[in-house]
Amino acid sequence: MKIISHRGASAYAPENTLKAFKLAVEMGSCDFEFDVHQTKDGILVVHHDYDLKPTAGKAVKIADLTYAELKKYNVAAHFKRDKMVQHVPRLEEVLDIIEPAADSLNFEVKNDRNVYPGIEEKLLAFLKSKPGLFERAVVSSFDHGTLKRFRELSPRLKLAYLGHGLSTVLLLPAIKKAKAVGAVGFHMALRIAFKLNVKKIKKAGFRVFIYTVNTKKDALRMKEIGVDGIFTNHPDILGKWTLKG
Ligand code: G3P
Ligand code: CA
Repeated sequence: MKIISHRGASAYAPENTLKAFKLAVEMGSCDFEFDVHQTKDGILVVHHDYDLKPTAGKAVKIADLTYAELKKYNVAAHFKRDKMVQHVPRLEEVLDIIEPAADSLNFEVKNDRNVYPGIEEKLLAFLKSKPGLFERAVVSSFDHGTLKRFRELSPRLKLAYLGHGLSTVLLLPAIKKAKAVGAVGFHMALRIAFKLNVKKIKKAGFRVFIYTVNTKKDALRMKEIGVDGIFTNHPDILGKWTLKG
């Protein structure tokens, strides 16, 4: 079972910052997940939300800021354990840190209602700009239109379906949607990660990844029911090194 660091080692450093990614690498992570947005001047950046309220405490939207403007905000302002100033990183800065250690890289593209027109072309060009990157990349998105556009642009790109507000009843329609875009992965919330659901998804041919799993107990349960990987803010305490196999 893969242990994927979620937004870096985000239990210990402000999420999606260079510090969190460095820490994840130091802890031995080789599988990474992070969230991709695009600034007003077309720079790909890494941050969870569409605005900076949860991290910098400012209700400004990434889509409305140039990268030079965005860089001025301290996205560690919310993080009680470590107040050292951190900025929203550019995607390429994040990759400089994690790519040498990476077996897999999950680019979660936040693009609801196509708020970042052209982000698919831009990310695809980025994935093809470094040797070996495209092959290790998996692109996921809660926005189905975004996944469809990626598929139209690239038949070979690995895509993962990301279920939003999914429930057991909605699982079969979700599997149909995942098949329709040729996804290889199915990413699902812990609250509906039950044995039968995992079995159905795997039977349909997908690899199953569960978010966000932050206790060893849950991690062991996920392994037990046969999931392929978990996203965690604690890449160390869940012990990738003890959960192999
Ligand atoms: O990609 C898995 C997970 O990160 C999706 O949810 O809200 O943490 O981006 P969220
Ligand atoms: Ca995410």
